[in-house]
Amino acid sequence: MSIFKIAFIGDVVGRPGRRALYLWLQENRKKIDLCIVNGENAAAGFGITEKIVKSFLAWGVDVITMGNHTWDKKDIFEFLDRYPVLRPMNYPEGTPGKGFISLKLDNNFSVTVLSLMGRVFMECMDNPFEKFDSLYFEMKDNFIVVDFHAEATSEKQAFSFHVDGRAGAVLGTHTHVRTDDLKVLSAGTLYMTDVGMCGAVESVIGMDVKESVKRFTKQLPVRFKIPEKPKEIQISGVLFEVDTVNRKVESFEKIKKVYIRGEDGNYS
Ligand SMILES: [Fe+2]
Ligand SMILES: [Fe+2]
Repeated sequence: MSIFKIAFIGDVVGRPGRRALYLWLQENRKKIDLCIVNGENAAAGFGITEKIVKSFLAWGVDVITMGNHTWDKKDIFEFLDRYPVLRPMNYPEGTPGKGFISLKLDNNFSVTVLSLMGRVFMECMDNPFEKFDSLYFEMKDNFIVVDFHAEATSEKQAFSFHVDGRAGAVLGTHTHVRTDDLKVLSAGTLYMTDVGMCGAVESVIGMDVKESVKRFTKQLPVRFKIPEKPKEIQISGVLFEVDTVNRKVESFEKIKKVYIRGEDGNYS
């Protein structure tokens, strides 16, 4: 039996999120075989830049998934095709970029990472359930990891049952709050409704508290801000092991760590 270790890390929000990701990878990257990170909020909460993509890859990230914030930074169209950056696969036909990537990790074991976006309280997308079905045949021999980027927990749960036994893991992103339901479903799919976000602990889904509260108390448009120098930053995700022979999830745990800001401004 040979074991393959995969880390799946939730939405990285701005500089605090990037810092937490960097610190965690420094400690742990050598112990894992594949690292997938949702980067849709990495650039000050909105989208991702090429510079950030390059630093993520340099720190050991293998695949970056996106979501509804994919297009927030306009220059994404210039670099999307050059990197392992996935936009949701169920955008309409002809949308730039790619929604999945397959990586051959040893002779008998390949992983396909794919990004899908839900449709409840979200943008108008193609049906993610049908999209998965339409592509399943060509990737069925691979261990499939789905980043299911959605608002509604019901849609995420329903999707997980729809693909149970076909996808290796369905891990939710987008709501930024870690749920307490990491488990393996009856036909073998690892599932968690939302793996949580990386960023400032004291925040509203990674954003500055004051500004966010203002948005809900005044009928005025408020610009979201990333908290400056937060006391605590967190990383959030899932770490799991796959048996490369039978492609079953052997073990799983949450990635959950808080770093505290010292007098010198560094986090540890
Ligand atoms: Fe997000
Ligand atoms: Fe999102």
